[in-house]
Amino acid sequence: MNEIIRNIKTDFSNQLANARTLEDLEQVRIQFLGRNGALSELTKQMRELSPEEKRVVGPLLMNVKEEIQQAFDNAHAQLLDAQARFEKEKQRNFDVTASRRPSLEGSLHVYTQIIQKLEDIFISMGYRVVDGPEVEADYYNFEALNIPSDHPARDMQDTFWLNIPGMLLRTQTSNVQIHTMEKDHAPLAIVSPGRVYRNEARDASHEFMFMQLECLYIDKNVSMANLLYTTQTFLEAVFEKETKIRVRPSYFPFVEPGVEIDASCPFCKSGCAKCKFSTWIELLGAGLVHPHVLRAGGIDPEVYSGFAFGMGIDRLAMIKHDIDDVRHFKSNKMAFLEQF
Ligand code: DAH
Repeated sequence: MNEIIRNIKTDFSNQLANARTLEDLEQVRIQFLGRNGALSELTKQMRELSPEEKRVVGPLLMNVKEEIQQAFDNAHAQLLDAQARFEKEKQRNFDVTASRRPSLEGSLHVYTQIIQKLEDIFISMGYRVVDGPEVEADYYNFEALNIPSDHPARDMQDTFWLNIPGMLLRTQTSNVQIHTMEKDHAPLAIVSPGRVYRNEARDASHEFMFMQLECLYIDKNVSMANLLYTTQTFLEAVFEKETKIRVRPSYFPFVEPGVEIDASCPFCKSGCAKCKFSTWIELLGAGLVHPHVLRAGGIDPEVYSGFAFGMGIDRLAMIKHDIDDVRHFKSNKMAFLEQF
């Protein structure tokens, strides 16, 4: 028995000395101090001894149990301590000069940049910026803008209709005209940038969702002269250079007369790819607000008159930044976005 106990002790000492981690230690514990470990086995064997033998071996066994438990607890405490010191040392050796991977720099989307610039220009001229609904009633998008349900102009704006009768995704920001007149009455001066939707096949120059900016000015004695002066001033501010305008007759149901306004090409004098070698860039649909529209907005056309114009923001951005495909704007490609 003495010999067995001595063997267990040496065995235990060796294994404990080799234990490097908490997991190693746990294995040693199970092997010697566990329920089926070497010491339990020994206790079981003791039952077979005679009372005389028990009296001798009993205290020996008690001693070795205590010794082993003590040695184990010490080793366990030391290992925990060593680990704690190691962690501390690691932190102390933290290299504050080590370089990290460069992080990406964010920027505003090119839409946002242009819209902010346009808004600044109009605010400086005394206009207010208003918002309009993208989910809209037929009435505000068409009917009240002098486009009744049988009007051929509806064909020019292929519409996304909702399942709810009479509801659609707005095809133009002109819908804000009526909302603003109803709410604020005359006089008023507003611009409204925002998304519009058309049920069109996508290609380099067509999108089913794009951006427009609407401008509406109503007061007493507003004439074509106010429209021309305002658009020229505005276009000069956009292109940051002297700009001439060219006015061509056109037709939009909500204005009379209706015109299209072109800007002299800011990039060339005698024709370039951007102006398709015409020296003019087509930018705005405009006109004097139709009396039907004023009346629909609750404004008396005998007292007030006004002008309105609309512009495609995508087109402006494409010309300004030489963007060759309208689909880039919503592609979310880093290579595109990083340029602005
Ligand atoms: N809403 C027109 C469109 O989407 C653009 C437009 C033309 C707006 C003439 C106007 C305007 O306010 O007077 O094609």
